[in-house]
Amino acid sequence: MIKALTKDLKRNCIVRPVLPSELIVAKGINETVLPENYPTFFYYDVYRNWGDVFLVAVCDGRIVGYIMNRIETKINKNSLFLWKTYKVGHVISIAVLPEYRNKGIGSTLLTRAIELMKKNYGVKKVYLEVRVSNEGAIRLYNKFGFQIEDVIPHYYRDGEDAYLMEKELEEEGD
Ligand SMILES: CC(C)(COP(=O)(O)OP(=O)(O)OC[C@H]1O[C@@H](n2cnc3c(N)ncnc32)[C@H](O)[C@@H]1OP(=O)(O)O)[C@@H](O)C(=O)NCCC(=O)NCCS
Repeated sequence: MIKALTKDLKRNCIVRPVLPSELIVAKGINETVLPENYPTFFYYDVYRNWGDVFLVAVCDGRIVGYIMNRIETKINKNSLFLWKTYKVGHVISIAVLPEYRNKGIGSTLLTRAIELMKKNYGVKKVYLEVRVSNEGAIRLYNKFGFQIEDVIPHYYRDGEDAYLMEKELEEEGD
């Protein structure tokens, strides 16, 4: 079952699109929590293009987590027409501060981001990369119905492999 926010957090936390002034805070959380870091301009670029699906979790007035996504256009190889394209969501990065973990914040960020990517861009699927050793995150993605589609050898700078995980989204009315 996908984890819901714990009772106390329901009262004190919200998930909403990031504000430009908060990008630097998201960057700070990323650098505290993950070895995959990005230059400041990258956050502004993602925000400029897909700020509506760049979300933060704010608890007691403090940003404690974020999810950063981009929308990509793929060519439908099964179509007779080369120009037939479809949109997919790519989760670039998700992180929650250690003291706020395991309370449903990561699940809430992911749920809301998937909903918005579908509603605002009509994405047909969502994908992401995750370290093969990151069992906690893999368990979270499995709960959401993400499946391992491939292994990307030496995806990370330190040489670790990544799983490519994908989740197909249901069409409206299914
Ligand atoms: C992955 C992460 C974002 C999850 O955030 P979170 O707020 O703790 O997630 P939730 O509380 O919504 O947990 C949902 C489920 O994920 C799984 N999970 C998350 N972290 C886990 C861990 N460390 N160990 C085992 N399972 C874990 C569990 O199945 C959990 O549900 P359950 O407790 O009912 O079994 C958070 O652990 C994090 O920031 N990790 C470091 C950054 C990272 O690895 N990001 C992903 C990069 S691809």
